[in-house]
Amino acid sequence: MRSGICGGTEPEVAGQEKMSVSEVNKPAVLGAEPEGARDPEAAARAVREMFTSIAPRYDLLNHVLSFNVDRMWWRRTARTFTEILTRPGARVLDLCCGTGDMAFALHRRAGKNSASSAAILGVDFSHAMLQRATEKSRGSRLRWVEADALRLPFPDTHFDLVTSAFGFRNLADYDAGLREIFRVLKPDGECGILDFSEPKGITGRAYRVYFRHVLPRIGTLISGVKGPYAYLPASVERFPQPAEMLERMRSAGFREATWIPYTMGIAGLYRGKK
Ligand SMILES: C[S@@+](CC[C@H](N)C(=O)[O-])C[C@H]1O[C@@H](n2cnc3c(N)ncnc32)[C@H](O)[C@@H]1O
Repeated sequence: MRSGICGGTEPEVAGQEKMSVSEVNKPAVLGAEPEGARDPEAAARAVREMFTSIAPRYDLLNHVLSFNVDRMWWRRTARTFTEILTRPGARVLDLCCGTGDMAFALHRRAGKNSASSAAILGVDFSHAMLQRATEKSRGSRLRWVEADALRLPFPDTHFDLVTSAFGFRNLADYDAGLREIFRVLKPDGECGILDFSEPKGITGRAYRVYFRHVLPRIGTLISGVKGPYAYLPASVERFPQPAEMLERMRSAGFREATWIPYTMGIAGLYRGKK
């Protein structure tokens, strides 16, 4: 069992009310655990199969279910890293890139016509998701690699920036994922993990009704596949709270770890430096 929040560490959580003791003490988890998966290998397999099964409808569902707010979140994340993205020769990795929308936002921010701007690479372990990304990126400088985020085929200290949008939460081992990101980053390199969170107060209550009851029904209806859209709210509930996630980032070696809530804390961006 992993340790939770270290005593005495004040979480650097911007714009969010303080967490209650019970929230902070939510039991620490290893990683994603789709229903029926008994070990990390089975969990990873189930996640890959799940995304492969919804790949043809993934983009449509994303935009419908988020009321297009997803585009704003990708853009905002990309904007955060403008300095790195416009640095000549910078190497950028987008982990769990899926059909590529985070990578496209980074690419636009980098200035897509400049040959000297950042080289952006997307990694995912679902072939079907990467096929969609490839179709969408014809003619661009974006590159895609099929690989597991927990065993990246890149040398140490290779990238200036590693991002992940709504993918990190699906890893079978969060600490191993952070260690792998840390390994491939250059010293002073930065990491940006965009993922869902559970908003507090009235917004939280309304959001939970939508997320647990409405979203799975619409998701299942449009995709024609039952599992993934029941898994989504369960995986968000299971994902560490911001304070714990920041502590895990620090344990993996990141400094200046912060979380910035997006849209009343429905999502948020974790940042850290190597
Ligand atoms: C919710 S989608 C996010 C896609 C994209 N980043 C976006 O913002 O729309 C999660 C993606 O993470 C990928 N994924 C999950 N675990 C992975 C792992 N261990 N290695 C590589 N990709 C993984 C899945 O295949 C899926 O495409």
